Amino acid sequence: MVRLQIDSRRYEVPEGKNLLDICLSLGLELPYFCWHPALGSVGACRQCAVKEFRGDDDSHGKLVMSCMTPAKEGLRISVSDPEAVAFRKAIIEWLMLNHPHDCPVCDEGGECHLQDMTVMTGHTYRRYRFRKRTFRDQNLGPFVNHEMNRCIACYRCVRFYRDYAGGHDLNVFAAHDHVYFGRQEDGCLENEFSGNLVEVCPTGVFTDKTFKKHYTRKWDLQSAPSICVHCSLGCNTLPGERYGMLRRIRNRYNQEINGYFLCDRGRYGYEFVNSDRRIRAVWSRGQQKTLMQKVSPLQAVTQLGALLSIPDRLTKTIGIGSPRASLEANFALRSLVGAERFYSGFSDLDRVLTLIAVQVLEKSRARPASLQQLEQSDCVLVLGEDVTNTAPRVALAIRQTTGPIFVSTPYRTKLDEVATLSVTLAPDDIAGLGFAIAHQIDPAFPSVQGFSTEIAQSAQGIAQALLKAKRPVIVSGTGSLSPSILEAAATLSSALFGKNAATQICFSVCEANSIGLALLEGNPLRQAVDLAKQGAVETLFLLENDLSRRLDENSLKTLLSNVKTVILLDHTATAMLPRADVIFPAATFAESDGILINNEGRAQKFYQIFVPNPVNLGELSSIQESWRWLRDLHIASARMDPSRWTTLDELTEDLVKEFPKLSPIQEAAPPASYRIAGSKIARQDHRFSGRTAIFADKTIREPPPSPDPDTPFLFSMEGAPLALALNDGWPGKKVFGDTTAAGISFPGLPLPFSPQEDQWWVIPLYHIFGSEELSLASPSIAGLAPKPYIAIHPRDAAKLGIQEGDPLEILLAGSVSLQTEEFHLPTRFESSLPLGIAGIPVGIPILAGKVAQLPFWCELSKHKMLGVA
Ligand code: SF4
Ligand code: SF4
Ligand code: FES
Repeated sequence: MVRLQIDSRRYEVPEGKNLLDICLSLGLELPYFCWHPALGSVGACRQCAVKEFRGDDDSHGKLVMSCMTPAKEGLRISVSDPEAVAFRKAIIEWLMLNHPHDCPVCDEGGECHLQDMTVMTGHTYRRYRFRKRTFRDQNLGPFVNHEMNRCIACYRCVRFYRDYAGGHDLNVFAAHDHVYFGRQEDGCLENEFSGNLVEVCPTGVFTDKTFKKHYTRKWDLQSAPSICVHCSLGCNTLPGERYGMLRRIRNRYNQEINGYFLCDRGRYGYEFVNSDRRIRAVWSRGQQKTLMQKVSPLQAVTQLGALLSIPDRLTKTIGIGSPRASLEANFALRSLVGAERFYSGFSDLDRVLTLIAVQVLEKSRARPASLQQLEQSDCVLVLGEDVTNTAPRVALAIRQTTGPIFVSTPYRTKLDEVATLSVTLAPDDIAGLGFAIAHQIDPAFPSVQGFSTEIAQSAQGIAQALLKAKRPVIVSGTGSLSPSILEAAATLSSALFGKNAATQICFSVCEANSIGLALLEGNPLRQAVDLAKQGAVETLFLLENDLSRRLDENSLKTLLSNVKTVILLDHTATAMLPRADVIFPAATFAESDGILINNEGRAQKFYQIFVPNPVNLGELSSIQESWRWLRDLHIASARMDPSRWTTLDELTEDLVKEFPKLSPIQEAAPPASYRIAGSKIARQDHRFSGRTAIFADKTIREPPPSPDPDTPFLFSMEGAPLALALNDGWPGKKVFGDTTAAGISFPGLPLPFSPQEDQWWVIPLYHIFGSEELSLASPSIAGLAPKPYIAIHPRDAAKLGIQEGDPLEILLAGSVSLQTEEFHLPTRFESSLPLGIAGIPVGIPILAGKVAQLPFWCELSKHKMLGVA
């Protein structure tokens, strides 16, 4: 710490921190544009000028840019010095010369940094009387709108896009006073973090295009802290709603996870909440199993409750949970059907992989790294996981690391461009590489036989770099669908931990609550299929799960055709909809509260943003949280006292009683009883408009705000400001603790992969836009999802006599004939795939059911007919 003086007041501040950062932290008003806490200082905008004095006798001083000046002992500066004030005022006047002054129609309105700084500096009168310089705007794709005339040339956009996120297609072009920030030509921004431009740009040049489509004033948005549901990292978000429609997602700062940035899937995947595919009423086929009809919720709950009250019927009832549903919803289902009849709803392989990840999180001496810790690593090894597409924010964190980056994946990934060494190998060989590095680090770990010299040499080099590092991190995940890779990563981290106790791991898992679900100890899905086959299942409760993504078509048929009644609870129509007999409309993350446990084992709570059906319009719109439907059914079955689970906190208490090791979830975020200065927290801004008229088109009476017994928030503008609650951060709570040290390693060494003459090993290929289920229901994301394809090495293609784009027929090995007319895929050449390996994109609906059992051996042949599936 050092002592310095600002405008005659003395402060003690961290040495070396820049003066702008210090002034802002002290609450002093100092305008700025180009400095950003994550992007640092470049001194481009000249807006943050202050006067610096040399010693006590200096009365003249000199102007310095505060963002470029580090704090040092004895420094004396002035923010309010008249010359500094005049300089800042002049700067903003110049910056505003060509600005279109189109604030009333600008999407940045309400949260415009430029507007705030203009007011702060006192530039209130426009003297410039000439033609303004204008630019042509570009179409940058579905996420980001471009309006270049508003630019003040702070360079934040290119610094974020190119230097921080590694994008190539956005740049600055200049001639004379024409400085243009955009692409060389119109076209979709290629970087998967492009949406951050919306928040990074301090003006309205880059704004959220999806928000523009259903624009509302920022102060009219209702909001609450939330968690992204589109991968397992649990980035913190701040969604906004108006008139029952989710309007946008913004980043919510969490120092340990996402910091200032989200990926585009997390930012733009939200539109599924507004989708036409939403289920909004209770539907039932009735006794006659005829067409689906809307029914009253009470009728459906009473009828099913009566059924469940019959002990014999209950023993023939099973529940299938979901890794995309909250911990509470899964627990409510488990309580309704009984622990022994609760199936976790992972695909069987994903269940095995997630359980390995849980085991590692519990026992590994190398503890899980937060994204912030990952950023600070000085050597990263990525083993088998295409993190850019499965856990995107991990890839962004890796790009900020300072040391060597090693990547070994089955195909070339985007991270390869920053890798010190990248090795594409078959999954078993990636595992072999991991075990070989472990042996190099500590010869007590078994040596790996039979692998190529290339693998041995790579292992040696990587081991040396890892040993040299101070803070190495081993990154892996379940996306490779290879237990061996996860085991190798865990074993390697154990070996390295033996040499360096600062070693950490970072494993991603498939879905937002995969870890939470695995901790509820459900049975494997395969057992549910077998039970149904034996005729032992009459009723199936299916919670927020599209089983066509988890089971192959035959198994799915076996399960569903042997069950009398399928009761579906979901918010979005999936392939399960036509197979259900009763459907309950579930709330999405935006309409409910709940806990998700992320890839590090961190429990975090998402809070309800809005009430889906606040005014009873006489329609049978009855969306509510899955856990509440399950509670209602439980009570209707006369097996639960109606006084129980009246609030979410009560359910959480029961959950913790049954799973004491999950007790940290109660500290994940404040309970409903939390108050700020004695008040609940307002979800609405104090400027929120239309309070008395917002439902006037539906009812002339002003309905009272909906009650919220589950959270410390109010659906109202009264109460403590939301900003105060957000200041507290709420970083979540890890359920595994940080010091567990039992240690874990796996003995199993895989055999090297050897390509077969006439068979291919088909592995999953991931796409940030397309592989995740919910975001795929967002139009902006769906537009960027790939069409189905099969990727193979061009040499393999030549062997089969096919050209790129030709339809390729896929026949599962073991003579299981698929319906060939549905399983021809166009060929895509991917020269980074190892020979003998093919790849199919994960999560593309047309492939669901067929590829849930990836990876598999298959025969490939040229399709006889022209045309593709
Ligand atoms: S486009 Fe925005 S972020 Fe980029 S230089 Fe202009 S004002 Fe700054
Ligand atoms: S990295 Fe994952 S959790 Fe974070 S914003 Fe993207 S999809 Fe959401
Ligand atoms: S913020 Fe200091 S020069 Fe821009």
